Amino acid sequence: MLELRGITKTFRIGPTERTVLHDLDLDIASGELCSLMGGSGSGKTTFMNIVGLLDKPTQGSYRINGEDVLGAKADALSRLRGRLIGFVFQQFFLMPRLNAWRNVALPLMYRGVAEAEAKRKACAMLERVGLGAHTEHKPSMLSGGQKQRVAIARALVGDPAILLADEPTGALDPTVSREIMDLFIEMNRDLNVLVLIITHDPGVAARCRRRLELVKGRLATQEKLAA
Ligand SMILES: Nc1ncnc2c1ncn2[C@@H]1O[C@H](COP(=O)(O)OP(=O)(O)OP(=O)(O)O)[C@@H](O)[C@H]1O
Ligand SMILES: [Mg+2]
Repeated sequence: MLELRGITKTFRIGPTERTVLHDLDLDIASGELCSLMGGSGSGKTTFMNIVGLLDKPTQGSYRINGEDVLGAKADALSRLRGRLIGFVFQQFFLMPRLNAWRNVALPLMYRGVAEAEAKRKACAMLERVGLGAHTEHKPSMLSGGQKQRVAIARALVGDPAILLADEPTGALDPTVSREIMDLFIEMNRDLNVLVLIITHDPGVAARCRRRLELVKGRLATQEKLAA
């Protein structure tokens, strides 16, 4: 489903250029569950931003379902991103003034879905992630793990084919971290969504069928199968 070839990213800061991704080739099939590890500064977030159509590489090609996505215009790209990709971050990024279902419904509302329908879908997704009793709660009334569940529901409510998560358990204690990982695994299995998780936690990576590692902007291991 994802086909990345020769992906190189160079940042220019004033007169200096710095290449942070070097000629990456990667294919990820639909429905895969992948982790991406690597030291701080190895290029993980930069790579995920490219995969998530938030940034473009300096060189290389990127096809999603055979379609060249780097040639697309900005508005076509953001439509594609909205339809195809859900994002989860370490810091949750929930809207503090909105209750759980309104946070989850946001991507649908942006898409022009009527409020009643958006609420129905948001509440159903919150039920799925184990927060059926918390649909009216504001983020401040929720624990870290619950906030991340809301963020996962928001990422999945629009039925994306790809779920990208940048250190989603980075702010959570080990027990909650494991529960959130259980949820990613369950969603990957039940919704057949391709999941790519950036993590520093070997325990999280070990639970992914496919494990990728970046070392100084190069893919170091591929096709290492989980035990
Ligand atoms: N917009 C930017 N402009 C210039 N340099 C950048 C930019 N974004 C990232 N970098 C540099 O690219 C390198 C890779 O950064 P990136 O955020 O991808 O690393 P990471 O693997 O996600 O690290 P961490 O584990 O700390 O989140 C770093 O040296 C960073 O300083
Ligand atoms: Mg990062």
